[in-house]
Amino acid sequence: MHSIRVEHPMSQRESLIQKFREKKARVAILGMGYVGLPLAVVFAEAGFHVSGIDPDVRKIDSLVKGISYIPDISTERLAPLVKSGHLKATTDFSVLKEMDAVSICVPTPLRKTGDPDMSFILAATEQLAKTMHKGVVVVLESTTYPGTTREVLLPMLGEANGLTVGEDWFLAFSPERVDPGREDFTTLNTPKVVGGITEACGEVTAAWYGAAIQHIHTVSSAEAAEMAKLLENTFRMVNIGMVNELAIMCKRMGVDVWEVIDAAATKPFGFMKFTPGPGLGGHCIPIDPLYLSWKMKAYQYTARFIELASEINTNMPRYVVTRILEALNERGQVLKGAHCLVLGVAYKPDIDDIRESPGLDVIGLLQKKGATVEFHDPYIPTLKTHEGTEMRSVPDLMAAVRAADVVVAVTNHKVYDYKAILNAAKFIFDSRNALGELGKNNSKVERL
Ligand SMILES: NC(=O)c1ccc[n+]([C@@H]2O[C@H](COP(=O)([O-])OP(=O)(O)OC[C@H]3O[C@@H](n4cnc5c(N)ncnc54)[C@H](O)[C@@H]3O)[C@@H](O)[C@H]2O)c1
Repeated sequence: MHSIRVEHPMSQRESLIQKFREKKARVAILGMGYVGLPLAVVFAEAGFHVSGIDPDVRKIDSLVKGISYIPDISTERLAPLVKSGHLKATTDFSVLKEMDAVSICVPTPLRKTGDPDMSFILAATEQLAKTMHKGVVVVLESTTYPGTTREVLLPMLGEANGLTVGEDWFLAFSPERVDPGREDFTTLNTPKVVGGITEACGEVTAAWYGAAIQHIHTVSSAEAAEMAKLLENTFRMVNIGMVNELAIMCKRMGVDVWEVIDAAATKPFGFMKFTPGPGLGGHCIPIDPLYLSWKMKAYQYTARFIELASEINTNMPRYVVTRILEALNERGQVLKGAHCLVLGVAYKPDIDDIRESPGLDVIGLLQKKGATVEFHDPYIPTLKTHEGTEMRSVPDLMAAVRAADVVVAVTNHKVYDYKAILNAAKFIFDSRNALGELGKNNSKVERL
């Protein structure tokens, strides 16, 4: 007797997983910024053929030449991937029709009203919807409110095209956790959370990402993955808000907040060190939690921790400027007409990102009080103030330090020679404890 073997055609799920295993899947990344470019590089290095798509012609021109514009990705690392054809870059969205896997890494800012600005996600999804086909997996990476993947992407991509999610195509959310400037944890070795719209969606996405990234943590839904990202960022925002308030309380009581924090940080368990500063900056921490508080309004719920932390953090630049004013007063000086040098304007040390930086608020508030303001930042050659004026980093740092009535340390870049700056300065307001021990009990220094 002959046994009859029935060959089942491979399901879209199985066929995609096999393509990922064999590194044959064609991958596209929408948005080649701080998140998208490192992700594209990691997939290309794993052996995939990756197309980076971005409407920004300057970025694409640079990538085509193999030149990086993101400090975390060196040109030496990028160029061979471009040369070997593993990484292509284009402004042409029509290449999406050939793709097996698409990751969306577009910006998610806030509108002036403080509400989520979904326009970039919507624009990218609309482009993708035009070329939707069977056998594709789509992953949203942009930080957003819980429910976005299911409520916004699913109908636009699947239902509108008559495709069944989890069978014909796959959809998941996987939050990016990149911390620009960090070298120990990168896109490659930071565990990646994945949450699918269906179980099969999670499985296919884990197969894709797992082919390039070291650790994948799959959760049961896209919403759980969306919420996990917001928990991470809210955790930071709330703790920074708390420690900023502690700084204000310590000042009232005449206690050194930096000494208090260092003391608490000697506890080997149950405490995590956060430091106060002139306010929150960056594309994530000041913004993302507000996506959650906005969404919670639809559930008649006020996200109180987020709102309180946001209020305290937003007020920090104003607090810093008030403290500078008071400190000058103590010295018999006024802020009006004073020469202020803002030292460091990037939103955190050792990076070139000025988005949402409290340095911009500090500059604006000092100017409003009538001070003459200059700035220096080795990573930010020019900036645009909130009023729209262009400013250039002073060419001669030490000359500017000597000339300033007050040097305001806003960003504690490591490259600064704080000893030399202290020696040359008349007076320093240190909002980050950039000077450390040098600034302690020093009549030339006022610390936050
Ligand atoms: N930068 C970070 O440290 C970080 C960390 C974790 C998460 N995130 C999140 O990742 C997302 C992206 O952030 P980013 O820092 O990479 O932003 P970015 O501004 O550096 O890059 C976004 C890119 O998307 C491009 N873009 C805009 N519209 C597009 C469209 N319709 N199609 C394709 N590309 C488009 C822009 O030109 C830009 O190059 C945001 O949601 C952010 O909250 C950022």
